[in-house]
Amino acid sequence: MSEVLAPAAILVASDDPSTRARLSKALGEMQHRVALAHDGEECLRGVLATPPDLVVADLSKTAVGSVEVCRMLKSDEATRPIPLIVLIPRAQRERRVDAFEAGADEVLPKPISEPEILARIKTMLRFKRLDDESRRQRRVIDSLLMISTMCQGYADASTRMFSDFGRRVAELLRAEQVAVILGRRGAPPSVLSFWPMSLAPARIDALARCEAVVRVMRSAAPITVGADESDRQASLGLEGGFVGVPVLGFDGEVLGAVTAFGTPSHLRPESVRILLALAGRVGAEVQLRDHTERLEELVRERTHDLVEAKGALERSQTETILRLAQAAEFRDHETGNHLTRLSQFSCFLARAIGMDRAFVELLALASLMHDIGKIGIPDAVLLKPGALTPAEREVMKRHTVFGAQICRGSDAPLLQMCERIALSHHEWWNGQGYPQGLRGEAIPAEARLVAVADVFDALISRRHYKEPWPIDRAFDHLTELAGTHLDPALVTAFLDVRGAVSEIAGRLADAA
Ligand SMILES: [Fe+2]
Ligand SMILES: [Fe+2]
Repeated sequence: MSEVLAPAAILVASDDPSTRARLSKALGEMQHRVALAHDGEECLRGVLATPPDLVVADLSKTAVGSVEVCRMLKSDEATRPIPLIVLIPRAQRERRVDAFEAGADEVLPKPISEPEILARIKTMLRFKRLDDESRRQRRVIDSLLMISTMCQGYADASTRMFSDFGRRVAELLRAEQVAVILGRRGAPPSVLSFWPMSLAPARIDALARCEAVVRVMRSAAPITVGADESDRQASLGLEGGFVGVPVLGFDGEVLGAVTAFGTPSHLRPESVRILLALAGRVGAEVQLRDHTERLEELVRERTHDLVEAKGALERSQTETILRLAQAAEFRDHETGNHLTRLSQFSCFLARAIGMDRAFVELLALASLMHDIGKIGIPDAVLLKPGALTPAEREVMKRHTVFGAQICRGSDAPLLQMCERIALSHHEWWNGQGYPQGLRGEAIPAEARLVAVADVFDALISRRHYKEPWPIDRAFDHLTELAGTHLDPALVTAFLDVRGAVSEIAGRLADAA
């Protein structure tokens, strides 16, 4: 059974009227579309204007002959794939060789044998079709590969990336406009990116609202409309050919559409495949971007919550410590602003000797707990109006150990500092203090700091057994205690900031 080839466009260029007539008639009968050229120049113009599927050149009398036509068509990248049959008179052997060397695909002798030339044309058209198909497949593979690897050049799913996608797709599909449109969960469609970049805002808006785009998203299926389907174009609100495919999320949810407007009348099957590949990338990128945005929002919320919670925890911790310290103070005679002044004196002194901010912040609270152990001292001893007996004094000294026990065993730096201060704030620089008789720098620094502040505040405060001392006398007495009871370097530092200490003492003085 003879093979029936689809009609092809064949250009017959001949300066011989009888050849033109015979080939034109025979090829016409085979349903091919035949264009005629009378000389070489007309032939070249015809090929460039409307590239045919095959050229027959029979030009021996014109200025631009068959060999020249052959050379020119085969030296041009665009026209090289077009099969070319050259007819040369049988006697002109050398010209036949020239034609082959110029790139002719076939050289047949004249006078022509009609069956032979028709058979050669048929074979060549078949090869041309196979060659075209192979080129098309290669182009599709290149396009898919390009789209699947394009994202690698971009730091994120930016508008620039989608815009570049659009440009590439427009080139591949020969479309006039390409738009990536988003419209999920019934939200009005909006254009994520478009090409060409020069599109007017009104046109961009119209693309998003086009009926064809709405249908693609509603049906979650590709829609193709050829440039010659005017009825469908009208019903879909289009002005030309169209290819649109849905952008789907990982779970099949329709996120939008990738659309090409103004496509040619003949839409190739790969057009849809190219758009589907692009839509796949867009879907992944959009979801990734959404996911990242949601994650960032969540992190922002959680961070805010954490900061709030941390603040609340710190406030509650401070309040607990304050109340606990006050509870101990209420049982004692040391009421009023003693705790507040002691905390501020300690912190001022700590800053004066160069302690860092974190230490000072802990000290501000931990110093409040120095006498927390008094909670464990019996009222008979703690509240005794007169002088204590030696045995009672020993009981009283136990408040240091009780305080340390209350704070012991915590991982929190604050409570660990509380423990050191509670235990050691009655240690003396010369080792004569209690409860451990530590000496010099063996006494924790924070306990030595608090000791200076505590002794100083006791001197300037009223007690049931004494009036408050004038502040200068209190400073002088500290100097006398330096090196015996108190760390001499800390006393010096405290005296160096006596102006600020006096200001605190004045501001927070107890009511008379
Ligand atoms: Fe104490
Ligand atoms: Fe105290």
